Amino acid sequence: MCGIVGITSTKNVSSSILNSLRKLEYRGYDSAGIATLENGIIKEVKCEGRVDALETNLAKQNLDGNVGIGHVRWATHGVPSTVNAHPHSSDRVSVVHNGIIENSTLLKKLLIKKGYIFKSQTDTEVIVHLISDYLKKNDLKNAIIKMLKRLHGSFALGIIFQDQPDLLIGARRGSPLAVGYGPNENYLGSDSYALKSMTNKVTYLDDSEFCIIKNDNVEFFDEAGKKINKKILELSKDDKEYEKGDYKHFMAKEIDEQPMTIKNCVNEYIDKISNSINIYNFPWKKNDLKSILLIGCGTAYHSCLMAKYWFEQMTNLDVNVDVASEFRYRKNKFKKDCLYIFVSQSGETADTYAALDLCNKNKVKTCSIVNVVESSIARDSKFVLPIHCGPEVGVASTKAFLGQMLVLYILCLKLAKDRKEIDKKILSSKIKSLLDLSKNVKKTLLTEDQIQLVCKSFADAKGSMFLGRGFSYPIALEGALKLKELVYVHAEGYPAGEMKHGPLALIENGMPVVVLAPRDEYFKKTISNMQEVIARGAKVLLITNKSKDEVVHENIWQSIKVENTIDDLLPFLITVPLQKLAYHSALNKGYDIDKPRNLAKSVTVE
Ligand code: M6R
Repeated sequence: MCGIVGITSTKNVSSSILNSLRKLEYRGYDSAGIATLENGIIKEVKCEGRVDALETNLAKQNLDGNVGIGHVRWATHGVPSTVNAHPHSSDRVSVVHNGIIENSTLLKKLLIKKGYIFKSQTDTEVIVHLISDYLKKNDLKNAIIKMLKRLHGSFALGIIFQDQPDLLIGARRGSPLAVGYGPNENYLGSDSYALKSMTNKVTYLDDSEFCIIKNDNVEFFDEAGKKINKKILELSKDDKEYEKGDYKHFMAKEIDEQPMTIKNCVNEYIDKISNSINIYNFPWKKNDLKSILLIGCGTAYHSCLMAKYWFEQMTNLDVNVDVASEFRYRKNKFKKDCLYIFVSQSGETADTYAALDLCNKNKVKTCSIVNVVESSIARDSKFVLPIHCGPEVGVASTKAFLGQMLVLYILCLKLAKDRKEIDKKILSSKIKSLLDLSKNVKKTLLTEDQIQLVCKSFADAKGSMFLGRGFSYPIALEGALKLKELVYVHAEGYPAGEMKHGPLALIENGMPVVVLAPRDEYFKKTISNMQEVIARGAKVLLITNKSKDEVVHENIWQSIKVENTIDDLLPFLITVPLQKLAYHSALNKGYDIDKPRNLAKSVTVE
């Protein structure tokens, strides 16, 4: 959460910082700011709201200077406001900060006693005053070392100094941070995406490291101040600038891109000539594994839940699923014969990263499924399977969800085959169906017109429910999450068979309920549950697949039929109308679809 950029150059830096902040807006968008060093004076321009508002403020108040830092914020300590926006500065230093300083209350009390005056409600200001204090008796490097020693929590920092015209400090503990290299200038960014428009040469800071960046030189240190050598990596050039094209919103574009991203992913992992799976370098043998634990947050957690059904159906592995924020604080029994799979679009989610880190410290087998291959989670996993979706900008995850499910499904087929737990013919027919998945998703996108007819009811209702059994249950959770996230109405995903144990009491006349009932082994049971909610007045939107036999029930409000495929792959198809439902309901309300309130794309605080 929050985005950092810093530049030291021989040229004016504020417009380049502003451009990078636009790229970082996906990390937070409730306030923004830039500070530069102009003729030996630190100057700031800040605002509440988006980078557009910052640009307007910059037009009124020029910000010159060859060294500077910028920030987009997702509030943790203190409301979103200009005064709480970063950078936070004293006469001597200016700081941008991602993450949380857990001991800030105590540090603030001590600094107030020393006479320091606080202007904001943020935890960040303690860093400003701590450095200023240490600079009284220490050189710059020692002041940084001493300041870092006082901080508890996880953070990434960018710092400039009033008396250092071409110097920038970056420091990382927990939150990601990267350095970029350019001609006569160097950069700091909270991810490589922020740096990509300026350079493709980067170094990632590891935990508990800091760096001193000058125009022509970058030095790296551990927190004790010992110099360390780091590799410069070259970023892939395939992630070109990602634009909306003719679309109004990234989310709409990303939903419609799904046939193509599925095709890319299938091409990557399936050898169409031999009809086999291309995961060759999997580091573990079949007898190495007895169980699997899948870990993720939000939508990624839902793809993990989905995978549990597939793994249980096709392999003899024990399969469990965990939310990363719970896993990381439980008393886990780490097992050598368990494969810990981490699923994350961004690869930077703080809780998922912490869970991975815990597993690495306990020396167990780790594998990640990510979209951003340069991310911290990808870099620190023993084995990585990218989902090949291209950048996902909309805060609501769509194409990455299908990509995560797809890679998990393919991994499941591979393990089932290696362990000889799946019949060869069945495997081959499942692979054949995978080759048709892109085409089927494309046809299912045509359900959009029908979705537009029902979205107003969902947008205006005080609440709605999404019901499914078996393979459709994780999709019900995902459909409800999309609606909550974009339309700000209560929506609950529930196992259809659980309704009578409590939630049925919520059903009242006219309440919109999505029933996911594709014609799989759970179909008849789900239809019975649908009748129970209809009998209590629910307005049912039934999502099923095409079939000769009609689902006859005179009181179904609307039905949408997706394409036909094997049962395992129906979850991909029934997801599509739910994505469109959330999108059009939010459009109906006039909400900010790509940047819903209170959220951010990459959740780098716990
Ligand atoms: O980048 P990640 O996949 O690790 O992100 C996990 C969640 O924060 C994310 O899926 C979130 O739930 C989405 N905004 C849902 O649309």
